[in-house]
Amino acid sequence: MFKTLPGFREFYPEDCAKKSAMFEVWKNTARTFGFSEFEPPVLESLDLFTEKSGEEIRSQLFEFTDKGGREVALRPEMTPSLARMVGARAGGIRRPVKWFAIGENYRYERQQKGRLRAFYQFNADILGDESISADAEIIALLIESLRSFGLTENEFKLRLGDRNLWVLFLETLGIGDDRIASILSVVDKIEKVRPEAFSEMMAEALSGSGLSADEVSENCRKFVAINSVENLEAAFSSCNEEFKAKIEARLNDWRNLLSILDLMGVGGFVKVDMGIVRGLAYYTGFVFEAFQTVGTGRALAGGGRYDALVKKLGYPDMCAVGFGMGDVTVGDLLELTGKLPKADFSPDAYAVIGSQELVSRVLPIVFELRRSGVKVDYPFKISGFGKQFKMADAVGAKFALIFGEDELSKNSVKIKDLKLGTETEVEISKLLSFFGK
Ligand code: HAM
Repeated sequence: MFKTLPGFREFYPEDCAKKSAMFEVWKNTARTFGFSEFEPPVLESLDLFTEKSGEEIRSQLFEFTDKGGREVALRPEMTPSLARMVGARAGGIRRPVKWFAIGENYRYERQQKGRLRAFYQFNADILGDESISADAEIIALLIESLRSFGLTENEFKLRLGDRNLWVLFLETLGIGDDRIASILSVVDKIEKVRPEAFSEMMAEALSGSGLSADEVSENCRKFVAINSVENLEAAFSSCNEEFKAKIEARLNDWRNLLSILDLMGVGGFVKVDMGIVRGLAYYTGFVFEAFQTVGTGRALAGGGRYDALVKKLGYPDMCAVGFGMGDVTVGDLLELTGKLPKADFSPDAYAVIGSQELVSRVLPIVFELRRSGVKVDYPFKISGFGKQFKMADAVGAKFALIFGEDELSKNSVKIKDLKLGTETEVEISKLLSFFGK
């Protein structure tokens, strides 16, 4: 017997129906925001991911050498491919670029609840616009993409942090440029590891700097706990002149962003939270994660600004902001809250055919209905009426179209509403209008 590989799912039709219904909501929401769909390849050259995304994703790659001797990897995320695709057209592309994609990603990580090795992500990104309005648009799209399912402020929140302010904060502590990225990746783990492990990682990141790991850890813990702009102002109130102007400018960005989000009607979903720094190395500014606030409290989506990635890949400078939302945790939350959209792909009608001889009369009618967009199914082998009605029920058809000798001789068909049990007779020439076509 064969089994699926660990962390991989197979989707039976009922699972596919749920997945498609979820994707439909994501697509429609992205389109209402003016985003266009794109699709990057599933397999990429390994080096697209190894340098740009940070240590964590590198260790999770499904990588191999292909038959042509190329080092390749299944995509663990879509952002580097997007940066390449937009970068390659940077010269002539209309800005801002507002693109979305839904596709499967692959990460060789330990399988656990909400974490698989193959999962779908809905990605939306804006490139070529550095204004706070672009950050606000992306954050609002993330929130509306969850809200469109009927999820409320009580069921999820978006935690908003800022790598830009983190960098300024670490600089005020005397930490040099060369260590900031590694310290931020330690800070990213603060909620995931024990306090002693955190201190140890911090000591390693600071080794040789002459700074006290205990002191820096303590300061970081306090900064992580910040949950309002007022607290941010207070945290920087005593910093020296060298940093004042930069910090004030950034705090203004914060006020600006939060007031735009209020105008958009999504402010109630947003919580200031400096504990969000994000594990991926390419982020440069505002960063955010959406978490469910009921049940397990897992991450539903994550993203932020990544203004340097396109240039790092060798293309012209192009700023960017975006997010990725996973189908596993969002699907679990929708299941938990009973808000999974109803996927109804069952046929509108099932043709019940009186005898084998009548098939040649019925088939053209069935196909005319299908061509007009009516979902119709019919039996390949003609059995008794009872069996055919059972089949109509089993496939979930709303109506049975009964083509008997009598009806066909009058150029009509009997239509049975399978839920109500009622019957009407309709002329075949009026069948399309019966289905609203
Ligand atoms: P990420 O935080 O790695 O960001 O992933 C975003 C979301 O994808 C997570 O919040 C989670 O819902 C889902 N996800 C990630 N890994 C797994 C997994 N192993 N199993 C199930 N779900 C998972 C990114 O991928 C960035 N590229 C997002 C982005 C787009 N940033 C800018 N643009």
